[in-house]
Amino acid sequence: MKALVLAGGRGTRLRPITHTSAKQLVPVANKPVLFYGLEAIRDAGIRDVGIVVSDPREMLQPDLRTGQRTTVMVNSQAEIRAAVEDGSRFGLRVTYIEQEAPLGLAHAVKISESYMAGEPFVMYLGDNLIKDGITPFVREFEQERPNAQILLAHVKTPSEFGVAELEGDRVVRLEEKPKQPRSDLALVGVYLFDRTIFEAVHAIAPSKRGELEITDAIQFLITGGRRVRSHVISGWWKDTGKVEDMLEGNRMMLGGIETDVRGEVDTDSAVEGRVVIGPGTKVERSRLRGPLIVGANARIVDSYVGPFTALGDGVELSHCEIEHSIVLERSRIHDVPSRIESSLIGKDVVVCASDARPRTHRLMLGDSSRVELS
Ligand code: TTP
Repeated sequence: MKALVLAGGRGTRLRPITHTSAKQLVPVANKPVLFYGLEAIRDAGIRDVGIVVSDPREMLQPDLRTGQRTTVMVNSQAEIRAAVEDGSRFGLRVTYIEQEAPLGLAHAVKISESYMAGEPFVMYLGDNLIKDGITPFVREFEQERPNAQILLAHVKTPSEFGVAELEGDRVVRLEEKPKQPRSDLALVGVYLFDRTIFEAVHAIAPSKRGELEITDAIQFLITGGRRVRSHVISGWWKDTGKVEDMLEGNRMMLGGIETDVRGEVDTDSAVEGRVVIGPGTKVERSRLRGPLIVGANARIVDSYVGPFTALGDGVELSHCEIEHSIVLERSRIHDVPSRIESSLIGKDVVVCASDARPRTHRLMLGDSSRVELS
């Protein structure tokens, strides 16, 4: 059994972070989302992993149906290659599979055909977080040997997802974002396939949005009488495509941390709850309320850091309050008069107060940034 991890895509819903970084590398509890998936694959006993990546460039994406082209920015494969390398530190053998453009999940399957070489495989969307891993799901597939097995979860808003209709554990129909969903069972970003999926991805046509859809490929298997099973997940999972989901993932993963303080906390500071503080970090005259994580060589002075916050390496805070947020490496936040909450702040960002008169907001924001002021 092999694995196929999808780490290409456009990441439009996470702009501006994805203008400069791959969304799969945004850290949740200070660990890139992608790494949780790679660890889950390793824990399921799989060694060979193909990672689908694409180039960081603004490109004209062809619509496979109409031939029209639209400009999209695609992810940085260099960053993913630098973070994962050959996979050996995860106990994996990683091969990179280049996708010319994000032409759909089934397109990613199509280009991985020679890598899979007829073996069954698990396909894992690189921006999905599944708290309890995928081992039982993989074991079930190995025992039952269906042609495909999909992972499903009960959701409140099925019309936003690919939705499955079941008879027992057999899948009888799949629909992408249906207006009138036939069930509340949504597709989670993990799928298991045998080689018959390649017949399907060659047979299907692009959808209205110009992509080769994995739901269409699986529906092709169902219609052709192939056996498609399902497994309904009971544990927590999240597709981290949007900022709210990233923050919820961060909250979930921080919920499980154990205290580990390697940096220095002075006697004028108060630490409550479970906190992780990396080496070289200094905390002075501040209040830290876990669960939270601070990376290495950070500095927190005269500040409050509240629950469900993850601060990356080299972050500096002074005279500010922050909670339920993710701050990436080396960003500096100083003298901000009100509490920062539910925020995702990129690398090397500066947020500070100014004494200049008249009192104005001075902003220098990248494309697609979002600021809420009160
Ligand atoms: P999506 O989140 O569905 O797509 P996206 O990354 O283009 O994001 P957005 O909708 O915000 O623009 O993709 C799920 C995962 O699969 C994600 O890790 C990116 C990856 N992917 C590919 O590798 N190739 C593709 O062709 C597509 C569509 C996605």
